[in-house]
Amino acid sequence: MRMTDLIEKKRDGLSLSQEEINWMIAGYTAGSIPDYQMSAMCMAILLRGMGDREVLDLTMAMLHSGEVLDLSPIAGIKADKHSTGGVGDKTSLVLCPMVAACGLKIAKMSGRGLGHTGGTIDKLESIPGFSTALTEEQFFDNVNRHGIAIMGQTADLAPADRKLYALRDVTGTVPSIPLIVSSIMSKKLASGADVIVLDVKCGDGSFMKTPEQAEVLADSLTRIGRLAGKKCAAIITDMDQPLGFAVGNALEVREAVQVLSGQEQGDLLKLCLVLGSCMLTEAGSAASREEAEQMLLDAVTSGRALAKLAEMVSAQGGDASVIYHPELLPSAPVQWELPCDQNGVIARIHAENVGLVSMKLGGGRATKEDVIDPAVGVVLHHKVGDSVAKGESLATVHAPDESHAHEALEALRACFDISEGPVTRPPFIHKIL
Ligand code: URA
Repeated sequence: MRMTDLIEKKRDGLSLSQEEINWMIAGYTAGSIPDYQMSAMCMAILLRGMGDREVLDLTMAMLHSGEVLDLSPIAGIKADKHSTGGVGDKTSLVLCPMVAACGLKIAKMSGRGLGHTGGTIDKLESIPGFSTALTEEQFFDNVNRHGIAIMGQTADLAPADRKLYALRDVTGTVPSIPLIVSSIMSKKLASGADVIVLDVKCGDGSFMKTPEQAEVLADSLTRIGRLAGKKCAAIITDMDQPLGFAVGNALEVREAVQVLSGQEQGDLLKLCLVLGSCMLTEAGSAASREEAEQMLLDAVTSGRALAKLAEMVSAQGGDASVIYHPELLPSAPVQWELPCDQNGVIARIHAENVGLVSMKLGGGRATKEDVIDPAVGVVLHHKVGDSVAKGESLATVHAPDESHAHEALEALRACFDISEGPVTRPPFIHKIL
């Protein structure tokens, strides 16, 4: 087989066979197909698209480029969740303990943050002592004992995707539905869960800017998941403003604790109830989404969901007392308020830019090598549609020093659009598929 022939075939809008796709991915992973040819192929796929059979073959080829986790030593139904990424997205910290408290097994591999988006692993590592580097044996053992474990993604999971994603990043080929679907699903399928629920974000803070684009992606993700034999559901949610209020690692853990202890009931809780009810119904643990939501709410009000988070933290070497006393989490030395400079209604909070403010404070990474400061970030005090008065605080900046705080306040001010007239609150959940 020759890579040039495959590139020309895709360039001319023809389908690649399973054999061709397997050969191409094996060759690219091994280094026998160079980056320049794979770049041309990615661009041809972006421009010409792929049918479901090709996307499934590409997904499976990438999945089998590395280790595939066999979760069969874990008893019960294993559920996993994936988010296409956002700002202030601490969903896993809330959802996973809630669902585990309802009896599903959560054996989750998560990633680190880059750019304006955060990562679950960084957030969990803001808990003193918490280890996300578990051996496979410890991981299985913890899930069997406690119903839940979250660890960092191992280097061996879908290595073809790691190489391909880095190439797409510098060749303008990230926004291709077949490439995104095969990238996400190869990693999700390699993680071995029976039930996969996908949170597809749309808006300013995500790479699908409209609900229509997000729906095309969500549709394709669920079709490929089901063709691969998994129970799969997706929801499309708004990322035109950050999720919840906190953006920054320890600050997000604190917010997750507030939601799990019933003290906060906004969009974050709503999202976890919808994702969790999809998981429980797909797993057959509840007959309807309403019944599942009630199970999840009971887990919160009874304190079982919060206790499950504390149990996981303890089992992974962390100081579980911070779950009941979040004031013990790392906190920033400089905490300054951002006063509103007019009366009005919040029309917009630019999610991506809020994520960048947190990153520049040290809460995120501009490059993979950057070291994170767990204490810093931003806590918003309002959502879009809220009325605000001149002088009222819009947000608190948590900074390592005064010079970072000055810079962050200036940048954060530009993230808010204040309107004089009424503002309709945007829909948060666009669709459940
Ligand atoms: N997230 C992924 O893992 N892959 C993509 O291609 C896009 C987002």
